[in-house]
Amino acid sequence: MEQGYDFGLVGLGVMGRNFILNVAEKGFTAFGNDLDAEKVAALISEGGNENQVSATTNLATFVEKLSAPRKIMLLVPAGKIVDAVIESLLPYLEPGDILIDGGNSFFTDTDERAAYLKEKGIHFFGAGVSGGAKGARLGPSIMPGGSKEAYAKVQPILEAAAAKYQGEPCVAYLGPNSAGNYVKMVHNGIEYGLMQLTSEIYDLLKKGGDLSNSELHDIFTQWNTGRLQSFLVQITSEILAKKDDLTDGDLIDMILDRAKQKGTGKWTSQNAMDLGIPVPSIDISVSMREISALKEERIQANKLYTRPSIESMEKTALIDLAEEALYFSFIMTYAQGLHQLAEASKEYGYQLDIGLIAKIWRAGCIIRAAMLADITAAFEEDNSLPNLLLAPSFVKKIEPTVVAARKLVGYGITNGIPLPGLVNSLTYFDAYTSNLLPLNMIQAQRDFFGSHTYERQDREGIFHTDWEG
Ligand code: 6PG
Repeated sequence: MEQGYDFGLVGLGVMGRNFILNVAEKGFTAFGNDLDAEKVAALISEGGNENQVSATTNLATFVEKLSAPRKIMLLVPAGKIVDAVIESLLPYLEPGDILIDGGNSFFTDTDERAAYLKEKGIHFFGAGVSGGAKGARLGPSIMPGGSKEAYAKVQPILEAAAAKYQGEPCVAYLGPNSAGNYVKMVHNGIEYGLMQLTSEIYDLLKKGGDLSNSELHDIFTQWNTGRLQSFLVQITSEILAKKDDLTDGDLIDMILDRAKQKGTGKWTSQNAMDLGIPVPSIDISVSMREISALKEERIQANKLYTRPSIESMEKTALIDLAEEALYFSFIMTYAQGLHQLAEASKEYGYQLDIGLIAKIWRAGCIIRAAMLADITAAFEEDNSLPNLLLAPSFVKKIEPTVVAARKLVGYGITNGIPLPGLVNSLTYFDAYTSNLLPLNMIQAQRDFFGSHTYERQDREGIFHTDWEG
């Protein structure tokens, strides 16, 4: 091969291997690198044609094989490994080369890396890649942030590799510095929220409607043909149909109710707190993973307290309420995540286009859903919308579902079925749409014990009262 390869990829794990094969299949020549000789050999054999896709364990050879300016994606675990890979690549790179970190790196790490590499003339992108192994192979949603000028050089490759929604690629330049990693972090926060909500609805239908896994499979399959159409509803239906290989039962009933996490949901919540933006549907989904981890304590506590016996509800009525409540709370979760993005854009100077973000989430990523087309349209109509709840088209969608959400939450609470995601989504809605909240009392209390002052409803100014005088 005389001319250098178009694209380089470091880290031939599941994501890396699938992504490089995807790029090669789109007609770009691609070269991989991994320390593990077995992974290198596996890629070469799977790729078939070494002129199209090949790999090496040797970093110097790897860089040499690429055409300048080099476009190298890193798909390695977030954290120190990213820095180690950057350091080992640096001696072979030249000014103008482009590095793209495709992992779930923390956004401030990306800012530091970009500044460090800028001094050396290297362009650095933090690009969230969503869609799991299958997405990486068939087309993920890609969320890049970094130097706008360098983006033009990687754009054709990323657009070819990305998922397509009605022919449009699910990738776009999102903003400077860590904009891409930040957007991916909030994508994951929303992912946590939607997963929590789906799991609550599954639990509620099972316990409250005595529905079998096979009936539940049919319900989620049906929902996936309507306004709830989404990747997460689709996989929920598939999970419910899966038989267990080790027993005669269904696999879902054998899986331990203890959820793990790698941190992106928690980061979303933590940063939302820093920004002062409420994202309670996301916060609670992180807390629920934490509560789930306390399995032994939960078993102990379960023996100490009486729970109400569940009064089952007529199946059709329950299923209808559940569909409406899930639709309602999905909207609340997207609204909170997008609100956070709008604020982060101001705080960190990302200049995010919220409509564009919703657009590139319509296919390829884990939170892809039919409602993202409606969200895109709402922001295209008014790109300065502070919150999705204020979009006239969404008022029409939300309003008819609120009663069902209330009924379902009421039913769950009375019967002791935990529905914290649904409750927080409903509470968020009730609070956000309240023109009067009881926080006047909090201001009075603050002023009472700490002279923190308060404002008044009827006149301008800052006031303090001698409460005990
Ligand atoms: C994606 C996912 C992915 C994430 C997993 C696991 O968009 O493809 O968000 O990036 O790593 O979902 O996350 P947790 O282990 O934290 O659940």
